[in-house]
Amino acid sequence: MKCLVVSFFLASASLFIAGCSDGVDRINIVEDKCGKCHKPDIVYLNKKSKAEWDRVVYGMKVRGLKISEADEKILMQELYNKLGSE
Ligand code: HEC
Repeated sequence: MKCLVVSFFLASASLFIAGCSDGVDRINIVEDKCGKCHKPDIVYLNKKSKAEWDRVVYGMKVRGLKISEADEKILMQELYNKLGSE
């Protein structure tokens, strides 16, 4: 399992270096903070309204997400802008 996790991180790092060739507009904080419990990829699957993103990120904090207030502000703006449904 450890190896799987490490290789996943290496794979996503090389994707990142390759210039995000999968066509997804990746968000640095998502890659950094949201890949700890699940793949960061699931974050990009569905666009959501602001209220929905608020709820999702709140839910992740309840589950154990650690994020500074400053990073959270940037994260929310990025989610609203790049993955917003309104
Ligand atoms: C502490 C662990 C943890 C971290 C860190 C985490 N998540 Fe999650 N996330 C989960 C778990 C567990 C689930 C799956 C099941 C569920 O929804 O209860 C999940 C599911 C999701 C889903 C799919 C379900 C839905 O409600 O749409 C999204 C989207 C999501 N996470 C976004 C994020 C984002 C964005 C971040 C970073 C800001 C993040 N997660 C960080 C634990 C985490």
